[in-house]
Amino acid sequence: MIQPTRKKELNYYILTMGCQMNVYDSEVLAGHLENMEYSSTEEQEKADVFVINTCAVRKKAEEKVHSRLGKLKILKKEKPEMLMVLWGCMVQQGGTARKMAERFPFLDIIGGPHSLGRFPELLEKAPFSSRTIIDIEPEGEREGLPVKRGEGVSAWVPISHGCDNYCTYCIVPYVRGPEKSRLPGEIIKEITELAREGYREITLLGQNVNSYGKDLEEDIGFAQLLEVLDETGRLQRIRFMTSQPRDFSTNMVEVIAAGEKICEHFHLPLQAGSNKILQKMNRGYTKEKYLQLVHTIRKLIPECSITTDIIVGFPGETEDDFQESIEVLQQVRFDAAFTFVYSPRSGTKAAEMEDQVSLEEKKRRIVTINKVQNNISLEENLKLLGYQQEILVEGKSKTDQNIYTGRTRTNKIVHFSTEEDLTGRLVNLEIVEAKPWTLTGKLLDNNISF
Ligand code: SAH
Ligand code: SF4
Ligand code: F3S
Repeated sequence: MIQPTRKKELNYYILTMGCQMNVYDSEVLAGHLENMEYSSTEEQEKADVFVINTCAVRKKAEEKVHSRLGKLKILKKEKPEMLMVLWGCMVQQGGTARKMAERFPFLDIIGGPHSLGRFPELLEKAPFSSRTIIDIEPEGEREGLPVKRGEGVSAWVPISHGCDNYCTYCIVPYVRGPEKSRLPGEIIKEITELAREGYREITLLGQNVNSYGKDLEEDIGFAQLLEVLDETGRLQRIRFMTSQPRDFSTNMVEVIAAGEKICEHFHLPLQAGSNKILQKMNRGYTKEKYLQLVHTIRKLIPECSITTDIIVGFPGETEDDFQESIEVLQQVRFDAAFTFVYSPRSGTKAAEMEDQVSLEEKKRRIVTINKVQNNISLEENLKLLGYQQEILVEGKSKTDQNIYTGRTRTNKIVHFSTEEDLTGRLVNLEIVEAKPWTLTGKLLDNNISF
């Protein structure tokens, strides 16, 4: 049968608001759209399909969606045939999808993270539906879906989906469902293919990569998976995130130490320094256990970097508890810390707890802790001055066309200038300037490899 040809080119625009897993899901949505012969556009007004891929982890993320939708209402009025899609974690929360459909009736599709495999069907139905189509089924196929990866030399590869940990502040287990490890064969196949396509670096993704495999029949854990992947073809670097300190075994640290491609960067969310708060958060480790893990990592891999996440103002966090978070920061001297003001999430245990900390106090604490950490980050980065670092060049800097950007194995961002496009290459730089979040390097001669 002869297919009717399209009169005009159709474009899509995806706005991604969440974590790396959310970014990966956007790549799958883009994969579907490309299969349906849509092209990506940078200009929102030119989109025929507009997707907002949402996050629910903090209230702020949700507020941004509301304000964005307010503006999009005008665009939809001007261009009624544009299909508006609200996707992701935010709409998977009980009752949210319906509420959003009522408040923003111009939305054509609302879909949750489990509905990724069904996106093409939803998109085909949408132009014929007078009402918002909602798909927030709690399950769906995630294997074998098309992926249109962002430009660059790195690729995201999920090794598990969902989370079973139920940290009491966190919405993720409710919206992403229980932890499900992907089969090792599927992961290896995907990574082998990526290496063949020319990707130099992959980042293994999971809410808790360290518990990988626990739900599989096959006898495999994160350490064994890393060992196998370290042998994989032409890849240069393997990263992983996020690590739950509770499930980080010494054996895993040994495998990382021995691995050639596995990078020496540990993102190890501490969340809080007080044992009382850690227990109320249901994190499953104490401050002492955490410090022991840091000690083991640094003993086996002295040149590593360790970064963390901290929440301030969790219910019941007193000034003394908060000071304990600061003390751990000072003791460990993290390379960087991502700090968050505790945000009550409806449906989680912590949202129901007494002794909620006032917003004013939470703000004061975050300013205090950021000051402490910025100094530490700067001091740690200054230690690299004059030293040589190998970086994988990711491309031109977004702000300056003559400057290229890459990362050290320890995940520090380094800018340097070069006249040659060295994207995708490993280069050696001498570090000549250090700031809390970035470094500047100078290219050393004869030190470029492919
Ligand atoms: N699975 C990852 C984290 C996912 S969410 C892990 O366990 O590390 C990323 C970070 O957001 C968390 O580490 C935590 O610091 C923060 N976060 C999660 N829920 C939050 C909430 N309700 N309020 C403030 N920060 C939160
Ligand atoms: Fe949330 Fe905890 Fe799971 Fe991370 S480990 S996603 S913080 S419940
Ligand atoms: Fe990620 Fe936000 Fe969902 S952090 S898993 S996009 S709630």
